[in-house]
Amino acid sequence: MKISDLLNHMWKTYTSLNPHIKEVLDLIESKENSKIINDHIALRTFNHNRVNKNKLAEFFISSGYNFVENLHFEKKRLDASYYIHPDNKLPRIFISELRIQDFSSEFQSKINAIINGIDEKKLSDPKFLTNGIPWEKISYLDYKKIQEESDYAAWVLSHGYIANHFTVSVTDCTFFKNLKQINLFLKQNGFEINSSGGEVKGSSKVGLEQSSIMAKNIRVKFSDGYYEIPGCYYEFAFRYNGFDGFITNSANHIFESTNEKKA
Ligand code: NI
Repeated sequence: MKISDLLNHMWKTYTSLNPHIKEVLDLIESKENSKIINDHIALRTFNHNRVNKNKLAEFFISSGYNFVENLHFEKKRLDASYYIHPDNKLPRIFISELRIQDFSSEFQSKINAIINGIDEKKLSDPKFLTNGIPWEKISYLDYKKIQEESDYAAWVLSHGYIANHFTVSVTDCTFFKNLKQINLFLKQNGFEINSSGGEVKGSSKVGLEQSSIMAKNIRVKFSDGYYEIPGCYYEFAFRYNGFDGFITNSANHIFESTNEKKA
């Protein structure tokens, strides 16, 4: 399988499950003359050896991507790595994993049992990276139970392996000059911007600014029926002076774009 085919497939799954993403892209394209460039794609998983970030990275590495750096998110109990391809037309790949051992024993045994139950065949085809859940559907009650400890874990268990977000490179936009402008434009069109830590995370000083819309609820099938839960979001990035990496403190807030609204 060619890397470009996998990335196209990822985009298709991501936008068909989350029609609001396509609406945002259409809005941006209605203003832009140039083609929208994707800064990075983010994937989420658990640090279980069957599906950890290194496992998810295998196909990217064999397609020419290079590992760059590990990042640690203490408060979120997450680690992440990112990968860059020498062909700079290909987006960066950002893969995070939740540290299962940092949660309650009930949580740990639930997650481990689910992952141990995956049929190995499902993990051998690189398309598993965009095929959704490779495990049995969980119940909505289990989803809510897991969510009490981690919104991130609840998201992964219910959506599985699909792109968590794609990212518009605002650096490469011609009409939009900065994130403030794109955020305002999207708010005027009815989209909610993640405001955790301020709408624009990062600064020119650190080399990267990021913002994102909040994920909208989508209908997902659980073992006991359909429920509305947060789906995927779309991110916006502006890079300065050729900075190629990621900023831990900014990503910390961006992770919250799929949090369920607390009543
Ligand atoms: Ni991101």
